[in-house]
Amino acid sequence: MKFNTKAIHGGQHHEKVTGAVMPPVFQTSTFAQVSPGQPVGEYEYSRAANPTRQALEDALASIENGVRGLAFASGLAATDCLLRLFKAGDEIIAMDDLYGGTYRLFTRLYKDSGIKFHFVDMNDLEGFQKLINENTKLVWVETPTNPLMKLADIAAIAQITKKHNILFAVDNTFATPYLQKPLDLGADIVMHSATKYLGGHSDVIAGALVIKDKTLGDELHFKQFATGGTLGPMDSFLVLRGIKTLHLRVQRHCENGEKVAEFLQNHPKVERVYYPGLENHPFHEIAKKQMIGGFGGMVTFTFKSGAKQDAISFLEKLKVFTLAESLGGVESLANHPALMTHASIPEDKRKEVGITDDLVRLSVGVEDAEDLIEDLKQALA
Ligand SMILES: Cc1ncc(COP(=O)(O)O)c(C=O)c1O
Repeated sequence: MKFNTKAIHGGQHHEKVTGAVMPPVFQTSTFAQVSPGQPVGEYEYSRAANPTRQALEDALASIENGVRGLAFASGLAATDCLLRLFKAGDEIIAMDDLYGGTYRLFTRLYKDSGIKFHFVDMNDLEGFQKLINENTKLVWVETPTNPLMKLADIAAIAQITKKHNILFAVDNTFATPYLQKPLDLGADIVMHSATKYLGGHSDVIAGALVIKDKTLGDELHFKQFATGGTLGPMDSFLVLRGIKTLHLRVQRHCENGEKVAEFLQNHPKVERVYYPGLENHPFHEIAKKQMIGGFGGMVTFTFKSGAKQDAISFLEKLKVFTLAESLGGVESLANHPALMTHASIPEDKRKEVGITDDLVRLSVGVEDAEDLIEDLKQALA
């Protein structure tokens, strides 16, 4: 099956009793048993499994080409579940530009866990390999990154992690499985903030893990069941509905993203545009290699003045773009990472990686590109 067909049918079947084409929202915590330990059907308790969540999890596995999907109450709950594979003394190598909440989870929540985190430039493959030792258990990358649109070469990193028998996880939130398939490129686990493009309509908080290996999938399912950060039936239904139009939405996000990036690149008040589709983007060649069919709808830029106040005034003047956290919905959103999504990263760290106070991140939606550009034009003016 090709991707567009998978987005609609992958892992799906009609509901057994009524033939409903969409799985009903099985809004139930528990399932009847005929005798102790003998449920009527295959389900017992919704923290372990629920038919609506199962339908979503099967769809997730299908579109990411994995063997098992797991749906969580948020992207961070998914990442937290993955981290439970590791123990004191283990080391994790992560990319040096990450979503602020992921960084906060690694550095604050797991601070006293005894797990050591390294944050490195994943494009310096030599430097990265020097950090690997017998305690290294996981490599974690986000590509493209939030908000600086840095890329990591998934296939090249996978060759190294395979050689050293280290797990390799990719946060595929920005690219979506429509554009990029980390498991096909050699990663072991894909993570999503399904809140974003998978849900696609800014109406749900959800997360996902998709795993390539059955044993690891079972182990993670056990951890999910035992800790309970699962996605509810209604939210599972919403993400599943979102996935059915993922390919259509992402095509338009890419078209609009490219137009917005080009407009900004030629604007006299704009200093630098971070968009992997631009030829002058430092990782454009990697993007062409691993993002098939487009470069996404996320565009970040800075001001010639370098002034924080210019970024703030611009954001206050937007009319079609909404100033809000999050991304990946049908509507265009704008965000000031230093004051909003990445405020949890200490200021010196932010400056070190390039999250400056004049940096603005746009999630370009699927409206008419002309309206979006007019809006940017008036706000920049
Ligand atoms: C790239 C990325 N990963 C993970 C997350 C965390 O996901 P959630 O907000 O669903 O917990 C986000 C949220 O913005 C994100 O942008």
